[in-house]
Amino acid sequence: MKKLTLLGDLTPAEFLRDYWHKKPLVIRQAIPKFKPLLSSDALVELAAQEDVESRLITHFDQHWHMQNGPLHQVPARTRNDWTLLIQGVNLHNDAADALLRQFNFIPDARLDDLMISYATEGGGVGPHFDSYDVFLLQAHGQRRWRIGPQKDLSLVDGMPLKILRNFEPEQEFVLDAGDMLYLPPHYAHDGVAVGECMTYSIGFRAPAFQELGEAFLQFMADSIDLSGRYADPDLKPSEHPAEISKAMLDQVANEVNKVRFTDDDIAIFLGQYLSEPKAQTYFTPPVKPLTPARFEQSCTKRGVALSRKTQMLYRGKHVFINGESFAVGRADKTALCVLADTRKLDGDNASQASQDVREALYNWYQDGWLTLG
Ligand code: SIN
Ligand code: CO
Repeated sequence: MKKLTLLGDLTPAEFLRDYWHKKPLVIRQAIPKFKPLLSSDALVELAAQEDVESRLITHFDQHWHMQNGPLHQVPARTRNDWTLLIQGVNLHNDAADALLRQFNFIPDARLDDLMISYATEGGGVGPHFDSYDVFLLQAHGQRRWRIGPQKDLSLVDGMPLKILRNFEPEQEFVLDAGDMLYLPPHYAHDGVAVGECMTYSIGFRAPAFQELGEAFLQFMADSIDLSGRYADPDLKPSEHPAEISKAMLDQVANEVNKVRFTDDDIAIFLGQYLSEPKAQTYFTPPVKPLTPARFEQSCTKRGVALSRKTQMLYRGKHVFINGESFAVGRADKTALCVLADTRKLDGDNASQASQDVREALYNWYQDGWLTLG
């Protein structure tokens, strides 16, 4: 794999071997001459939308305050010490989506979103740690970072946001537009705006095992099939009516122990879980959808592309899209994997796909999951 300017002239393999989950990395001019993809006005507009996750954090008079969006008003730009955070900007803006996809040397199943922060002088979210890896790209203006590998991650009680009780930074640097900082999970950090600034966080996803386990059991609840009902034809009169008998317990244990799950169940669960759109995600179907015949014609000419909000994954014979799964044959898999990996399928590939795949493409087009290329 080739060296990437984005990673300070490391190859993705070198970066993953030496830094990922291990130690921070400052990359000067990771994206040379970087210009912000959205103006601060555009961010303020996004913050007012119902389907956008946003937060306003102020640190006026040394007092932390947080307000969740939608936000219909933000403090004056001339006022210091506030920051606006917009989650999932990649879902709403093509350029932001393209920037996030530059990090696709990390699998889609691990890539979460692009968060953008806008801050006035002194603005920030306070000294804290995150549970996930993060790349912090300085998009506009300057931010002073102080970071440290401390083990004491105890937090100040009663705060509206996570603030470290004893922050002990070991390094300090100022990032300019185009510079980027990589931080492994649980690395303490505090970024403070030096004048007005914007920072883009490329965030990752690492579900807690408890969360996965609970979701897996719910998934299994829909697929288990235990026939019959409890019966006790040999029941004897009870001396202790409140006691659950051993015979009853054994019979129920015997039935519950029939619940089994296979690696295939786990693969289907995981693919559906990881491709499930986030709660506020709404797809936009075409206003005047083409007929199947016209769609097929256009598809042969222009191919198709997944919409920004679509998550498409695969494992073995299973293909997953936006929380749905299906098993495919070898021939169909080739085309669908190209679509999932590259997020597009050219006209030739689309027209050579089987009838089943072409029908699926049309359904996804109608749902707004993909568009013509
Ligand atoms: C920010 O962009 O203000 C904060 C990002 C972070 O520290 O995780
Ligand atoms: Co952070």
